[in-house]
Amino acid sequence: MTVRIGVIGTGMIGQDHIRRLTKVLSGVDVVAVNDIDSSRAASAAPAGAEIFDTPQELIRSDKVDAIVICSWGPAHEEQLLECIAVGKPVFCEKPLVTSEASAMRVMEAEVGYGRRLVQVGFMRRFDADYRRLKAVVDGGTLGAPLMFHSVHRNASVPAGLYTSDMPLNDTLVHDADVSRWLLDDEIAGVEVRLPRRSRQGGELRDPHFVLLHMAGGAIVDVEISVNIAYGYDIRGELSCETGVAALPNRPSPVVSDASGIRQFIPTDWRERFIEAYDQEFREWIVAAGDGTATGPSTWDGYAATLVADAALRAVASGKLEAITMRDKPALYSQSMAQAA
Ligand SMILES: NC(=O)c1ccc[n+]([C@@H]2O[C@H](COP(=O)([O-])OP(=O)(O)OC[C@H]3O[C@@H](n4cnc5c(N)ncnc54)[C@H](O)[C@@H]3O)[C@@H](O)[C@H]2O)c1
Repeated sequence: MTVRIGVIGTGMIGQDHIRRLTKVLSGVDVVAVNDIDSSRAASAAPAGAEIFDTPQELIRSDKVDAIVICSWGPAHEEQLLECIAVGKPVFCEKPLVTSEASAMRVMEAEVGYGRRLVQVGFMRRFDADYRRLKAVVDGGTLGAPLMFHSVHRNASVPAGLYTSDMPLNDTLVHDADVSRWLLDDEIAGVEVRLPRRSRQGGELRDPHFVLLHMAGGAIVDVEISVNIAYGYDIRGELSCETGVAALPNRPSPVVSDASGIRQFIPTDWRERFIEAYDQEFREWIVAAGDGTATGPSTWDGYAATLVADAALRAVASGKLEAITMRDKPALYSQSMAQAA
């Protein structure tokens, strides 16, 4: 069976996902696209795909079996609710939504529908290195995890488009999600410390040092630097009771020349996580073909939204900000260890 896909939002990641859905993966066909910028939709549309004037028309079209949302975060809720209303599986890029109330509305709609339809784009859970790290922790040979050191460095972010809240709204959600998944625990509180501001980012508040307090007592520290110039660098190291497990350095040629001995660093997320994005879609396509979703859920998107909100409060207060979660609906009761 070929799953017929409609893509909403044909910017940077929308175009990259259209490429993988048309040129890399099998069992799918991109039959429809939409973007508020119709010329961008037209230039991104694969041959034969229909360009829809509105997301609603695309979602409701009989030609579309499942939807990929790559629009901006504030547009996600309306588009997700429409997908749920017509019972179509939907892959939604992170962030799921941009407020707790919005996440609750999406969750209530999906729970009311009675079956998972939403997968959130937390691709690190599909990365082979993160999966090996998780297998080590779950294997139990190192004892209980006590601390996780997570590093998230971008070479640069688009000047003018990026605001000081975005490292916490848009970037921290990845580290929060992967911490919840690796440690199989929820985040109960967030602190943020602001080191001296980097001159690389102009007026942007950067970097951030974040502490995530897990409900079970483990602590995660996250460095977020979004203008570090040298490359896109993602690291993670887990300190457990009787040992340490770290993400490996990615295999890359070792170059020796007059400048010394060095290895290349990815320039951005497309390069570093290329196989993870492919794998998250492979697994999504199978689930979407069965009319459902797998991997990171609306619950996970909701949890990440609460962390982003708490982190922004923590910047303002300078204190530990607690997180209170609603009861977890049975629809999402699968343990995080099983989810991807
Ligand atoms: N998983 C990841 O690693 C990752 C990486 C990059 C971006 N993202 C997420 O993907 C989303 C898009 O990011 P991007 O970098 O491609 O941004 P972008 O600005 O390059 O593209 C977004 C596109 O969505 C369109 N759009 C916005 N609102 C819309 C609406 N209501 N209806 C239809 N189209 C609309 C815009 O016109 C634009 O073409 C964001 O939520 C971002 O956080 C995730």
